[in-house]
Amino acid sequence: MARKKISIIGAGFVGATAAHWAAAKELGDIVLVDILEGIPQGKALDLFEASPIEGFDAKVIGTNTYEETKGSDIVIITSGVPRKPGMSREDLLDINRKIIESVVAEVMAKSPNAILLMVTNPLDTMTYLAFKKSGLPRERVIGMAGVLDTARYRAFIAMELGVSVEDIQAVLLGGHGDEMVPLPRYTTISGIPLSQFLPKDKIDKLVDRTRKGGGEIVNLLKTGSAFYAPSAGAVQMAEAILKDKKRILPCCVYLKGEYGLNDICFGVPVKLGETGVESIIELELTGEEKVLVAKSAESVKKSILELKL
Ligand code: APR
Repeated sequence: MARKKISIIGAGFVGATAAHWAAAKELGDIVLVDILEGIPQGKALDLFEASPIEGFDAKVIGTNTYEETKGSDIVIITSGVPRKPGMSREDLLDINRKIIESVVAEVMAKSPNAILLMVTNPLDTMTYLAFKKSGLPRERVIGMAGVLDTARYRAFIAMELGVSVEDIQAVLLGGHGDEMVPLPRYTTISGIPLSQFLPKDKIDKLVDRTRKGGGEIVNLLKTGSAFYAPSAGAVQMAEAILKDKKRILPCCVYLKGEYGLNDICFGVPVKLGETGVESIIELELTGEEKVLVAKSAESVKKSILELKL
């Protein structure tokens, strides 16, 4: 069986760490692309030199052109500018849209059948842009946000309860902004509803911390944004696709009427398998949850309109 090819665009904190997770999991051969000369080459070689120690078989190549990305199965796009303290993800829109437009054109010229996994912020808007510019079907352009946001939420619950992170299942809806909608009603600890472990006010605090989870890291790092958990999220999605695992994960996808929303890329639970998004799962929501989803959708729509596509 030929090895899969995973190209990662942007060899910064998120891109290089994604390469690390993907190589360690032996998901395939990796091509790391960046505009900075020497950086992708140096990081790729360094990572490959770790392979005899860690014992993984994966080619890792760094480059400044797209030649080596030819025929990629998956392309993880992380190129762009990260947030600094005081900035919202939306503040990145003007700079990152130019980067994403040029990157998507280069990627598509070499890998017309790839599945694109978007990580660059503002996430929902950049996913929309990549969907429109790539011409790919919606099943093949997927944004990574919900996996990260639910991971943060699960991490906070595990810390609060002193239980294993492995036993916490959660789902979340909405855009990758401070108006995202974690769903405590659909959160369980080994199948037991979260409400049996914590009172409402405590749950509300965890939800609030989750919403502001990205900002919490930005304020600590001061010179950039989170990268371990975002890159792990992208690689979990890549793994679900490459191994045709049929995992149910919250992902950002283009909606055509689901949840009453149209012409928007938005976080919803999906089934991920070898063809990408294999189905979208529509949850039953309470009136209150519907209001929160509508509010999140409104801010994503506003951002998408700024693209003036
Ligand atoms: N093509 C390829 N790479 C590019 C391009 C381009 N046109 N423009 C910028 N880059 C590269 C930069 O040179 C840099 O190495 O993208 C990389 C981004 O890396 P970092 O600055 O370390 O940013 P990172 O923390 O990895 O975040 C990247 O992911 O989570 C999001 O908000 C975050 O949008 C940001 C993105």
